[in-house]
Amino acid sequence: MACVVLALLTILPVVMGDTTGYLGDSVTLSSGANSSWILSKIEWYIFSNNTWIATYRKEPHILKTDRFWQFQGRLRLNISSGDLEIRDVRIGDALVYSVLLKDYKGEQHSVSVQLTVRERLSKPSVRKVFSMLKHSHCVMALQCSSSVKDTHLSWEPEAAFEDAFWKGNPNTNVSVVWTSYSPNRNATFTCTASNGLSKASRVVTERCQEPDMVGETRFPGIVFLMLLLGIVFGCVLTYICFRVELKVFPVPTL
Ligand SMILES: *[C@@H]1O[C@H](CO)[C@@H](O)[C@H](O)[C@H]1NC(C)=O
Ligand SMILES: *[C@@H]1O[C@H](CO)[C@@H](O)[C@H](O)[C@H]1NC(C)=O
Ligand SMILES: *[C@@H]1O[C@H](CO)[C@@H](O)[C@H](O)[C@H]1NC(C)=O
Ligand SMILES: *[C@@H]1O[C@H](CO)[C@@H](O)[C@H](O)[C@H]1NC(C)=O
Ligand SMILES: *[C@@H]1O[C@H](CO)[C@@H](O)[C@H](O)[C@H]1NC(C)=O
Repeated sequence: MACVVLALLTILPVVMGDTTGYLGDSVTLSSGANSSWILSKIEWYIFSNNTWIATYRKEPHILKTDRFWQFQGRLRLNISSGDLEIRDVRIGDALVYSVLLKDYKGEQHSVSVQLTVRERLSKPSVRKVFSMLKHSHCVMALQCSSSVKDTHLSWEPEAAFEDAFWKGNPNTNVSVVWTSYSPNRNATFTCTASNGLSKASRVVTERCQEPDMVGETRFPGIVFLMLLLGIVFGCVLTYICFRVELKVFPVPTL
């Protein structure tokens, strides 16, 4: 009786935790085998009906990695470590994988691995919404966006940037920065996309040149600037709200 319980205990899968795979890349699921073991049997399976996807027997030597249509031609089983490599990872591969190992002494071991599939973060794209020279000030808005879901975007100016800037809401996959800076110099901003695991940045340098002044019409510059920024802010906000509203019910793809 004790033996049966012990045997059952050793083959109950232990969840080994999470492995992250990236779309289109390869990922290796660890069998957790001790490197001193000599494996006589390896069985990787999925679903509650324990569908085999890759199996190995030492005697007689049989290695099968095309057992399930979903993984045709994409699996590689390392018969010494028991590790399973999945190539060209797809969204549907995000499953719980279990492996049953038998070492040459006849002991069985089992672990389960949850595979999480993510899109690898790529550099966000940046678009100049507008840039103009008004009353000796460059007024500019830059929009940063990412096509990758669940990406956090943030704007930072270069360290030496001392002029005013305003950042939009970073909780969406579109983020805008507005700035008003003095002409004839570079304004460098960096948009960073992050998803908690990795980051990717894009740097943009903009510059506006002040033309030689003809027919001075000097109004109180600050009044104009505030007015202009107010309009611009309103326009861009409306634009963004409109876009966000259109996309507020995206179909989850992951
Ligand atoms: C592997 O097995 C050996 C002998 O049973 C043991 O001493 C060692 O700690 C094990 N290594 C791991 C990583 O479990
Ligand atoms: C096991 O379940 C999966 C999905 O739940 C199904 O596609 C597969 O056909 C089942 N296999 C068997 C042998 O019933
Ligand atoms: C199989 O795994 C072992 C141990 O992790 C490793 O040394 C070996 O290179 C692997 N073989 C292949 C073909 O990847
Ligand atoms: C923002 O993310 C949604 C899905 O969450 C996507 O449909 C949309 O295209 C993304 N926006 C941009 C600008 O990539
Ligand atoms: C301003 O940026 C341009 C290109 O973006 C670069 O060639 C130039 O050297 C920069 N000037 C300064 C003063 O950093």
